[in-house]
Amino acid sequence: MDTDKSSAFGERLLDLVTGNVLTLLIAIGHRTGLFDAVAEGPADAVDLAVRAGLDERYVREWLGAMVTGGILSYDAATGRYSLPEEHRPFLTGSGVGNIGPAAGMLANLGVLLPQVQRCFVEGGGVPHSAFASVAGATLGEQWQRVYDEQLVSGFLPVVPGLVDGLRSGARVLDLGCGTGHAINLMAQEFPASRFVGLDLSPDAIALAEAERASRGLANASFTVADATTLATDGSFDVITAFDAIHDQREPDEVLRRIRGALTPDGVFVMVDVNLSSDLEKNLGNPFAALSYGVSLLYCVPTCRADGGAALGALWGRELAARMLADAGFDDVRFHDSPRPQNYVAACRFGRAVSEWAGG
Ligand SMILES: C[S@@+](CC[C@H](N)C(=O)[O-])C[C@H]1O[C@@H](n2cnc3c(N)ncnc32)[C@H](O)[C@@H]1O
Repeated sequence: MDTDKSSAFGERLLDLVTGNVLTLLIAIGHRTGLFDAVAEGPADAVDLAVRAGLDERYVREWLGAMVTGGILSYDAATGRYSLPEEHRPFLTGSGVGNIGPAAGMLANLGVLLPQVQRCFVEGGGVPHSAFASVAGATLGEQWQRVYDEQLVSGFLPVVPGLVDGLRSGARVLDLGCGTGHAINLMAQEFPASRFVGLDLSPDAIALAEAERASRGLANASFTVADATTLATDGSFDVITAFDAIHDQREPDEVLRRIRGALTPDGVFVMVDVNLSSDLEKNLGNPFAALSYGVSLLYCVPTCRADGGAALGALWGRELAARMLADAGFDDVRFHDSPRPQNYVAACRFGRAVSEWAGG
């Protein structure tokens, strides 16, 4: 045995366990406003607890972990804690760089660990409603930030002709819309277009509808429906699916229906996980282990609970391309998105010459 290699691996495991605990504490810091309190300026534990309106004893222990974990700084002379300028975008604010929502989501997923573990033995799955009850709206919090920062200026423009089409007026469906933030943002940005969001989850659709109403959007609507019942009447110019196809119970049927629901020169814009179907091609990708893990803790059990195919988040570009072709899309182009974790596939069929045929 190579003892150096063995002790290096042991150290790496210790790092992982420490990172796991720090992730949980980052979730607490995000949700209690502790990071925002530290960001206001250096302060001792008592002042920080007052700033955040929290119990000092818990705050002090949290600060100890944050300092020794290299997340906050500590000045022993004054007893004050601070947030280094360089760490701010990753721990505070509404930007996509803030790791808080992801930490919160992982902490929530952990609550269902015994149920997922049971599935290893007994098979079956864990229903989406179980995740919704422990995670609620926070499941979509990270994507909401992505949409705020990158949907209109980042994701949509990578499909040639799409933004122009939305500006001049298109009928748009977002399939598996979740809490509907993407639809509401697009409806606000493109008033000449009409938007429909469809999702199986009544809870998610209620949140989507509440946001639509609060924004006073008359060109958006939401419906609780199963994508496998989507009418194939060629009535949409654009169909989008953000991180939703791999979660479908019957993804092949849903893709066929999407194809049938599009006008002849329509486009299906599929945003999904930018990894390969082949494990060996994902080696070295910094997002691979995280994606497999979240897929195992959420995508696979929710889909299996539905009796579904459980493609998993790592179904990959190769299988996606084959399934899109089988569904009748004979022109599929994979574009890089503003996030390295995701691709944007622009899928068409028939290649009719039209305003959408730019690329
Ligand atoms: C990972 S979430 C993505 C949600 C949303 N696009 C977002 O970005 O926040 C996948 C969504 O697909 C929905 N879904 C799964 N199967 C469905 C089906 N058969 N019909 C409609 N929606 C479905 C789930 O309810 C869930 O909201």
